[in-house]
Amino acid sequence: MWSKNVSFDGGALHLSGISAAHLAKEFGTPAFFLDEDAYRSRALAWQHGLQAEFGAQAGTIYYAAKSFICTAVAQWIAEIGVGIDVCTGGELAAALAGGINPQKIELHGNNKSLSEIDRAVSAGVKTIVMDSLFEIERVAAAAKKHGVRQAVMLRLTPGIEAHTHEKISTAHEDVKFGFSIASGAAWTAVEAVAQHPELELRGVHCHIGSQIFGSEAHEIATDRLMAFMAKYRDVYGTELPELDLGGGFGIAYVAGDVTVEPADVLPQIHAAVKQACATHNLAMPLVSLEPGRNIVGPTMFTLYEVGTVKDVVIDGGKVRKYVSVDGGMSDNIRPSLYDAQYSAVIAQRKSSAPLQLSRLVGKHCETGDIIINDLQLPSDIAPGDLIATPATGAYGRSMASNYNHVPRPPVIAVNNGKARVIVRRENEADLLALDVKE
Ligand code: LLP
Repeated sequence: MWSKNVSFDGGALHLSGISAAHLAKEFGTPAFFLDEDAYRSRALAWQHGLQAEFGAQAGTIYYAAKSFICTAVAQWIAEIGVGIDVCTGGELAAALAGGINPQKIELHGNNKSLSEIDRAVSAGVKTIVMDSLFEIERVAAAAKKHGVRQAVMLRLTPGIEAHTHEKISTAHEDVKFGFSIASGAAWTAVEAVAQHPELELRGVHCHIGSQIFGSEAHEIATDRLMAFMAKYRDVYGTELPELDLGGGFGIAYVAGDVTVEPADVLPQIHAAVKQACATHNLAMPLVSLEPGRNIVGPTMFTLYEVGTVKDVVIDGGKVRKYVSVDGGMSDNIRPSLYDAQYSAVIAQRKSSAPLQLSRLVGKHCETGDIIINDLQLPSDIAPGDLIATPATGAYGRSMASNYNHVPRPPVIAVNNGKARVIVRRENEADLLALDVKE
């Protein structure tokens, strides 16, 4: 759950040798702390893993920007040389601001605006992943306008019920994303792309869901997408050169969970692709993946300060300690949205007090503002204690809101014993900056 440079010297949390107490004093709370070395190693592990497994047929690791992006992280990605998946103009802007080569950028989204399409085409992004027939026409028009031939992929729904929360499962049939293989919509899309000489169909894509363990779902998706690629070859006489299997690789949030590592799934995915090539007599395509959570999730923790504690008598005379911290659903909406589980520790001291049934809650005016529903915390926990929740790097800061006019926390990168702000803390002036006074 903790990133590689986190240690607990004397019971207190340290990141790259800097104590939680020191980090809180210098940067305030709540704040996200990002282990830069861990981020770079996780991104590289995917890239090297893909290259080692697929050799010349290794496509691209496209880091999914939606999990977390800012200009500094985009700069790291540019340096490391992995690609990036963006799904809005805002994410595209961050990628370009970080100096990522447009030929390493892939654009997603089920409702890309005309301006997003225009910007992506004029910036020269490598691929645009098509999600509707309207979009095929829109991208073709933009390519014509800019005088380019735009490489595109088709997002397909292979009809898989991934074993994850319903709201983050994306490749069953009844969803807004992609073209269904089973209903024939995917084939209609192939024919639509073929009408446009400005479009070059490079291959097919799917993303089957998020926080998935094991490789089975990706293997099934491989089978179905490659059967589709075989049909394409049978009709058009040429093979589609690329296969992109999306992201979705799970991480550990609580004790007992295990983070998926590239070596746990890449050999199986490779075997599934080889098998499908043999079955359909296809050449090995270039294989790409889009991990987001798996790269950034484990590399950040959130640091909060406890403001109040309250013993509340619950059923059967049991007592639950409500521990309120200075953030909450505005910096971590995942527990309320997906029943996501997290864990927490007191970060600046060791306690040998007995453990007590507790609930970690935020400061928002809402009963459901719960970070951890049930956890055991030392009974001497008190205002002023620091609490750290690990594995908040993915979909934490990126889904943060200003609910209750709470400024969003900063992101602090820590590396080699040095800490620096890469996203500054919002302040109340930022919150009022958009208001127009009457
Ligand atoms: N590629 C595509 C096309 C996607 O739609 C996604 C995530 C990814 C890659 C990256 O998936 P990952 O490797 O991070 O699982 N807000 C939710 C997750 C929504 C994911 C949406 N798409 C959460 O907090 O769990």
